[in-house]
Amino acid sequence: MQFRTLVLVSAFLSFLSTGYASIVEHVDDLPTQEFDFVVIGGGTAGNVIANRLTENPAVNVLVLEAGGFDENDLNTKVPGFFARNMGSLLDWNFTANLGPATDNRTGTVARGFVLGGSSAINGMVYTRGSSDDWDRYADLTDDSGWSWDSIQQYIKKNEQFTQPSDFHNVSGQFDPAVHGFDGINSVTLASYVHKFDDLAIQSSLLPDAEIAFKLDPNDGNNIGLSWGQSTILNGERSSSATSYLAPQFRKRPNLHILLHAHVTRILQTEDDCETSFSGVEFTQDAGATFQVVNATKEIVVSGGAIGSPNVLLNSGIGDAETLTNLGIPSTLDLPSVGQNYTDQALVPYIWIVNSTDPNDFLSQDEFVREGQLEQWRENRTGPLADGPGVTLCFFRLPDNASIFETVEDPSAGPNTSHIEMVFTSSNVGFLPAAVGNMTNFILASPNILTPASRGFLTINSSNPLDRPVINLNLLSSEFDVFAMREGVKTVQRLLATTPFQGFILQPTTNATTDEEIDQLVRETISAGLHPVGSAAMSPKGADWGVVDPDLKLKGAKGVRVVDASVLPLVPSAHTQAPVYIVAERASDLIKADWKL
Ligand SMILES: Cc1cc2nc3c(=O)[nH]c(=O)nc-3n(C[C@H](O)[C@H](O)[C@H](O)COP(=O)(O)OP(=O)(O)OC[C@H]3O[C@@H](n4cnc5c(N)ncnc54)[C@H](O)[C@@H]3O)c2cc1C
Ligand SMILES: *[C@@H]1O[C@H](CO)[C@@H](O)[C@H](O)[C@H]1NC(C)=O
Ligand SMILES: *[C@@H]1O[C@H](CO)[C@@H](O)[C@H](O)[C@H]1NC(C)=O
Ligand SMILES: *[C@@H]1O[C@H](CO)[C@@H](O)[C@H](O)[C@H]1NC(C)=O
Ligand SMILES: *[C@@H]1O[C@H](CO)[C@@H](O)[C@H](O)[C@H]1NC(C)=O
Ligand SMILES: *[C@@H]1O[C@H](CO)[C@@H](O)[C@H](O)[C@H]1NC(C)=O
Ligand SMILES: *[C@@H]1O[C@H](CO)[C@@H](O)[C@H](O)[C@H]1NC(C)=O
Ligand SMILES: *[C@@H]1O[C@H](CO)[C@@H](O)[C@H](O)[C@H]1NC(C)=O
Ligand SMILES: *[C@@H]1O[C@H](CO)[C@@H](O)[C@H](O)[C@H]1NC(C)=O
Ligand SMILES: *[C@@H]1O[C@H](CO)[C@@H](O)[C@H](O)[C@H]1NC(C)=O
Ligand SMILES: *[C@@H]1O[C@H](CO)[C@@H](O)[C@H](O)[C@H]1NC(C)=O
Ligand SMILES: *[C@@H]1O[C@H](CO)[C@@H](O)[C@H](O)[C@H]1NC(C)=O
Ligand SMILES: *[C@@H]1O[C@H](CO)[C@@H](O)[C@H](O)[C@H]1NC(C)=O
Repeated sequence: MQFRTLVLVSAFLSFLSTGYASIVEHVDDLPTQEFDFVVIGGGTAGNVIANRLTENPAVNVLVLEAGGFDENDLNTKVPGFFARNMGSLLDWNFTANLGPATDNRTGTVARGFVLGGSSAINGMVYTRGSSDDWDRYADLTDDSGWSWDSIQQYIKKNEQFTQPSDFHNVSGQFDPAVHGFDGINSVTLASYVHKFDDLAIQSSLLPDAEIAFKLDPNDGNNIGLSWGQSTILNGERSSSATSYLAPQFRKRPNLHILLHAHVTRILQTEDDCETSFSGVEFTQDAGATFQVVNATKEIVVSGGAIGSPNVLLNSGIGDAETLTNLGIPSTLDLPSVGQNYTDQALVPYIWIVNSTDPNDFLSQDEFVREGQLEQWRENRTGPLADGPGVTLCFFRLPDNASIFETVEDPSAGPNTSHIEMVFTSSNVGFLPAAVGNMTNFILASPNILTPASRGFLTINSSNPLDRPVINLNLLSSEFDVFAMREGVKTVQRLLATTPFQGFILQPTTNATTDEEIDQLVRETISAGLHPVGSAAMSPKGADWGVVDPDLKLKGAKGVRVVDASVLPLVPSAHTQAPVYIVAERASDLIKADWKL
């Protein structure tokens, strides 16, 4: 294993933190209104496309990003502050109906409103999904290029496994054989181990452990309890903005990035006999004025699982009848746009702990946080140098679980987990509303990784600046209700094992019977923040889906969709690594098509 030494390079370049010629804030500062490629959304996927296509100096690319960019913002830079971004200036703050089974409760769906997109505000957990997940994508799309074996090259292009910021000996904490060391986005292990995470590892090493220790969660089989891997470099968040748009890439003269540019529609090419799109309409002043730029080769729609279908629908691409009824002229009848929107879902499960060390739990104490920030500033270590995923716990329902007598297993195969327990024991400066001013607690929250429920996204007005309508339809399948119930029970069993005794005191809610658990789940379930499927890939010629397996918009020319929305089913994973993989392959597909 070899780690590249990037510490000095990034320290040297950090003084150049303002004034890159290629990142501009006003349309008048662009050199032209015509580009080879126009990328809609400078998010996780969009910045990969921007980077890879501009490797060729003859290709020019414009990225239009609705949000802004301040690379000195501590809330995006300090990993432990990740949750401060939810509901902040950097969040689109979408809201959704969580679904009839939740009594139509409204929930928030955070999405990054900033260069880097959701990779700039997310929890940084790095998980690829199971080999089964990718092999199923290949089957479902009739394209073996999406299989687990085929995407290994894209994992390697994306991943640069680095040492954690405390430089501890990581032997036995991951499997170097399944990692890339020469990619662009940094992935690392945690540098500060909380008491809870230490106990979790101990529990996994018990001879009769229900969830046994797994050396690496990213080797294709994701069942087990492991040390977590996160997109962090030297104790700082590694987002698509800091990695794929690092200074050496940003300065390319053929790469242009316009901030505060909210794309409203893509426009059909004039005098068009076939359906092709080349214009991109956007506003920088909340709709007072609109500008148009043109793509001579392709428009790449990378607005994310909410932003991309929203732009398509506003452009007349979607169910023709629905759009016509809203007064939007139909340009392309594609009923699947926005349908099959699928998210994971999580029940925040709060446990009181017996500890006086504020590094052991989520503390509301500003003084404690200041001390931790001091350590982060000086040494890039301590609790704030990590995200929430210090340890990861993924498990699979047993094959003889009663639900499988009546319901088909929605997971992709036997190496795929159904449920995750999301552990959060760090002082992240954010607390679920339910905890009030309580302190001394951790979260061990069941998250359903393989939901059978499907939601949808649509629009209800012809104003492209209005918010889309989202219904997550959570718990609408029998499987999801069963899995969440088992998830709650499994957390209870895990925290009752010997290592946790004396530390974990009790949960803040006493749900034990199936009825009590089901009620707790209905009343507290929230969006898992891993939506996919709203502009799904399907085989060429299929009567459903939005894009072909090469990510080209079905029935049109000049448009691809590249982001989380193209994954037809949610992977058994946190979704950023899958999105990076999609975007790396998409870059190769685009280059091959245009012989770039
Ligand atoms: C709070 C949070 C925590 C998460 N935690 C994790 C985690 O720990 N690990 C993990 O793997 N995944 C996590 N995820 C999910 C993961 O971050 C996303 O799946 C992934 O980043 C999505 O990438 P994307 O390219 O599809 O969209 P995004 O990264 O969201 O990019 C879309 C971009 O398009 C821009 N945009 C949208 N519409 C327009 C428009 N009309 N005009 C111009 N620009 C537009 C947006 O501003 C944004 O920059 C989390 C997500 C959130 C929000
Ligand atoms: C999200 O909400 C916060 C808090 O109300 C607000 O400051 C921010 O501007 C909102 N984001 C957007 C994109 O409107
Ligand atoms: C939820 O909303 C749907 C329509 O969107 C409605 O049919 C249903 O009755 C509502 N359910 C509850 C419990 O309010
Ligand atoms: C790290 O730990 C492993 C196993 O415990 C050991 O074999 C190895 O020598 C250690 N490496 C260093 C650099 O100390
Ligand atoms: C399951 O994962 C293991 C590696 O952990 C691998 O050897 C095996 O082939 C996988 N099985 C399937 C069915 O994918
Ligand atoms: C952009 O495309 C539109 C529509 O096809 C066309 O009217 C316009 O002239 C083009 N603008 C430029 C700068 O090429
Ligand atoms: C939803 O996805 C499934 C495949 O997972 C597909 O069979 C179905 O047709 C899709 N529905 C729509 C409306 O796109
Ligand atoms: C930074 O690390 C040094 C060396 O280990 C230590 O002496 C110092 O106290 C640390 N600073 C903070 C603020 O923790
Ligand atoms: C499933 O099988 C295990 C042992 O293989 C057994 O302990 C358990 O009771 C079974 N569960 C059900 C629901 O049958
Ligand atoms: C916590 O909140 C409760 C009720 O809201 C209040 O009575 C109590 O004084 C608060 N405690 C602290 C330390 O702020
Ligand atoms: C459209 O949907 C939004 C969000 O669900 C809602 O606030 C608004 O009232 C709806 N507007 C119409 C015209 O139905
Ligand atoms: C809390 O921790 C202390 C010190 O480790 C221990 O003596 C005590 O028994 C614990 N309390 C409970 C209720 O477990
Ligand atoms: C849960 O039950 C235990 C034991 O009966 C009790 O001490 C605790 O206060 C209860 N917690 C809640 C939130 O009701």
